[in-house]
Amino acid sequence: MKIGILNSGGDCPGLNAVIHGVVGAASELGWEVIGFRDGFEGLLPPGDFILLRPEDTVGILKLGGTILGTTNKGHFAAKIGGGDVSGISKEIIGKAKRTMEQMGIGALIVVGGDGSLTTGLQLFQLGWPIIGVPKTIDNDLQATAMTFGFDSAVSSVVDGLDRLHTTAASHKRVMVLEVMGRHAGWIALWGGMAGGANVILLPEIPFEMEKVARFIKAREAAGCHSTLVVVAEGARLPDGHVMSVDANSGGEVRLGGMGEYVAHEIEKLTGKETRACTLGHLQRGGAPTSLDRILGVRFGVMAVKLAAEGRFGRMVSYQSYHVDSVPHQLRLVDPDGEMVQAARSIGISFGD
Ligand code: F6P
Repeated sequence: MKIGILNSGGDCPGLNAVIHGVVGAASELGWEVIGFRDGFEGLLPPGDFILLRPEDTVGILKLGGTILGTTNKGHFAAKIGGGDVSGISKEIIGKAKRTMEQMGIGALIVVGGDGSLTTGLQLFQLGWPIIGVPKTIDNDLQATAMTFGFDSAVSSVVDGLDRLHTTAASHKRVMVLEVMGRHAGWIALWGGMAGGANVILLPEIPFEMEKVARFIKAREAAGCHSTLVVVAEGARLPDGHVMSVDANSGGEVRLGGMGEYVAHEIEKLTGKETRACTLGHLQRGGAPTSLDRILGVRFGVMAVKLAAEGRFGRMVSYQSYHVDSVPHQLRLVDPDGEMVQAARSIGISFGD
């Protein structure tokens, strides 16, 4: 048996751990693993790939990014605009299929986020032997309780907030930290709670600047002269608008700018000196945490197991401390859920 693996979409700490898991489990079965470069693009003729033997993956477990390269653009981008699905052209699918057939690939493991798994699903529906492995720092896939990469991203947010705490306190300032997560607030909520934020603004809970300002003024009156505000990049203005930089060539909107906006408004409404900071891709780069390494390896091993059982069209999933498989859909923060309630109970404001 010869199987293929590719990483598609944005990179994410733990991708190399998945590759490590896949290669390890496949070699135990005597299978050969082919790694396609730069996502699905590596399937286009003449094919861009490398042979992955255990000796080729020594030391990759601890590395961020992916040794295979990845892209969230190109011929196979399945998401457009506000997350709508676009079809991939028949000509492109035909070319990629020829590569699969010529190389004798019996299963293709697609490690990707919502967009890439949607591409995988389209190909599976056309008869391809696809196994999906969910990957996103955003942790926004309904079908898995956690994706690898999320814990590493949250750790970066916590590290950033720990640093901002000391400078905010020294200057009696408000510090605003904009974090990633696209249209879901998981990174902001987890990072904000673990990092001791006082205000957390999420896409799922509409906020009002007046209420945020009132909260900060009340803190000031109570003797708390510094405030930490975490803003999810996808947080929405009261009229529902998000702040975006531009659209990349895949058509998915590039979020960003809400942190600057919120900081500006806070300074205007409270008179308190306020600074904004955007954590950006620092959340995606660097070594995965031990949790993400272990989750990545387990996901890789499960993907090989699904291939061995011929259970194509399935996505690896993590539920109740157990790795299994399911179909996939988007998952958002529940504004009335336990985690938001817990944050409210310790005095965190959501600006609503
Ligand atoms: O989906 C992962 C993610 O990091 C989002 O949190 C963020 O909005 C987006 O990707 C950034 O994408 P890019 O690297 O293309 O700017």
